[in-house]
Amino acid sequence: MYFMASDRTQTGIEGLDKALNGGIPSGNLVLLSGGAGTGKSTLCLQYCINGCVKFNEKALFISTEQTPTELLRQAAQYNWPLTDLINKGKLKIEYFDVTKGDEFLKRIDESIDHFKPNRIALDSLTTLADALLISDMSEETAFSMVQIAESVNPIPRTEQIITKTLLYRLIGALKKYHVTTLLTSELPEEGKTLSADGVSEFITDGVILLSYLSVGATELRVLKIRKMRYSVHTKEYLTYDFSSKGLECKLEEQLSI
Ligand SMILES: Nc1ncnc2c1ncn2[C@@H]1O[C@H](COP(=O)(O)OP(=O)(O)O)[C@@H](O)[C@H]1O
Ligand SMILES: [Mg+2]
Repeated sequence: MYFMASDRTQTGIEGLDKALNGGIPSGNLVLLSGGAGTGKSTLCLQYCINGCVKFNEKALFISTEQTPTELLRQAAQYNWPLTDLINKGKLKIEYFDVTKGDEFLKRIDESIDHFKPNRIALDSLTTLADALLISDMSEETAFSMVQIAESVNPIPRTEQIITKTLLYRLIGALKKYHVTTLLTSELPEEGKTLSADGVSEFITDGVILLSYLSVGATELRVLKIRKMRYSVHTKEYLTYDFSSKGLECKLEEQLSI
């Protein structure tokens, strides 16, 4: 199948772009799910850096977990020119302290409107959704949502319905920009869903799962594309690891199950 380059947003990670048949269909919102330490933040940062360095794009990194200083430290490990790209206005880090601020949706909107990025990473959707649940709703909104939720279902479904409504709002707000976006979701070790909230996997355009796979005595880091709207893609596991240049991906046909 042939796609024009502009139809695809390349991650710049070779094996992954190949598995995606050239890259992520441009404008897709893609959930990047995995347990702690699987490399979600690294991949997001690499996606942003590659956008700037390899494809001359502008990238917005929305961080709710690592501060800009921590991200600089992470980038330094791989010699990524984060400071340089920030100074040149190619890359922007928008840090939200979820314990303090509010009006996150408004700030995200303003940031995208103003900076006009070609690609976005939001790390993490899990923390942001939790913060929105607590702070970004007016009391009346929260109250009416609880009332609606309770009229439909008794507690404990209430919180789930509010979370779902919030995710629709957040993802809907991001979708209207048609900017290819990675959103991370923190998965518990033994979780059965593809996201922390159990909802995002249905409302995003794609899901990439990072996990571990035991093969004999060894444990491999594996990546699987579980969903990618508007694209054919590899169904097999890819193995990945961290090199001095960042995350590297390989297609492993023999691991297909
Ligand atoms: N310099 C490095 N070389 C190899 N692997 C590293 C290096 N730095 C971090 N890692 C790996 O990356 C992981 C952290 O990746 P990170 O992107 O922060 O994960 P997540 O965001 O999914 O929690 C660590 O657990 C470690 O396994
Ligand atoms: Mg992380």
